Amino acid sequence: MSTIYLNGDYLPPEQAMVSVMDRGFLFGDGVYEVIPAYGGRAFRLEPHLKRLRNSLDAIRIRMPLSDAQWRTVLEELLRRNPGEDQSIYLQVTRGVMAKRDHSFDDSLVPSVFAMVSPISAPDPAVARDGIKAISLSDIRWQNCHIKAITLLPNVLLRQQAIDSGAVEAILIKDGYATEGAASNLFIVKRGLLITPAKGPRLLPGITRDLILEQAAHHAIPYREADISAEDLINADEIWLTSSTKEILPVTSLNDVPVGDGKPGALYRRMSELYRQYKEQVRIGAAQ
Ligand code: PDD
Repeated sequence: MSTIYLNGDYLPPEQAMVSVMDRGFLFGDGVYEVIPAYGGRAFRLEPHLKRLRNSLDAIRIRMPLSDAQWRTVLEELLRRNPGEDQSIYLQVTRGVMAKRDHSFDDSLVPSVFAMVSPISAPDPAVARDGIKAISLSDIRWQNCHIKAITLLPNVLLRQQAIDSGAVEAILIKDGYATEGAASNLFIVKRGLLITPAKGPRLLPGITRDLILEQAAHHAIPYREADISAEDLINADEIWLTSSTKEILPVTSLNDVPVGDGKPGALYRRMSELYRQYKEQVRIGAAQ
């Protein structure tokens, strides 16, 4: 039986209630984070909390807990929900108001929710064969760097990908690939690893940053640069990255093989570096 955290209490999920007047429910007025945990240890907690703070600042919600308080809550949640490979979902909404009104009052008390779920270990079939993706027009808003719970475009885009037999949608805005519906994008061209630079068109992914860090550390050439729709089609390798899916090699884009149609050599190298890093976190030797 799992235990969740809601506004100061640890509860079974069926006893955790949120008011229908919560602005998260009425307007999708809130932000969230997804933080992996390995062997009960949160992965890259500091950058996740920093991104949470940035998201909250951007939408004018005050940070409800200090970093030390977040740490205590998440450690307690992990203690109450033991497991090996997990993800922590945390969500902060602007809180409950007396009547439905688009405008808000800065004095509202944010609602804070967190839960832990198991994540499945990377699928060997994916590492062997890769995944299918399709490209779709990026219909999202102009502040995609905010990790907002308002995810209707992402939900519809992901579902369109699934309905067409693919795993993820790669989004194209003004002729450039931005990211996936719930993942960041990398390509490899002639040995150079390329990912779009951070900005309002994409979420500053924590997995993305770790991959760039590993590339720098292991002298793998990389660049943060625009990826045109044409660059995407001509890439030797395409990867999609996220906290829960790690690194996914895309071997088919719009039913056309990517490169030689198999996961590439740089993917294999980076996923091994990622795996090693994860194991360091599991034993407490890295964060
Ligand atoms: N999503 N871009 C988007 C739009 C995302 O939703 C995500 C992650 C990422 C990757 O970010 P990170 O490496 O920090 O997980 C990029 C999470 C996992 C989700 O919504 O469930």
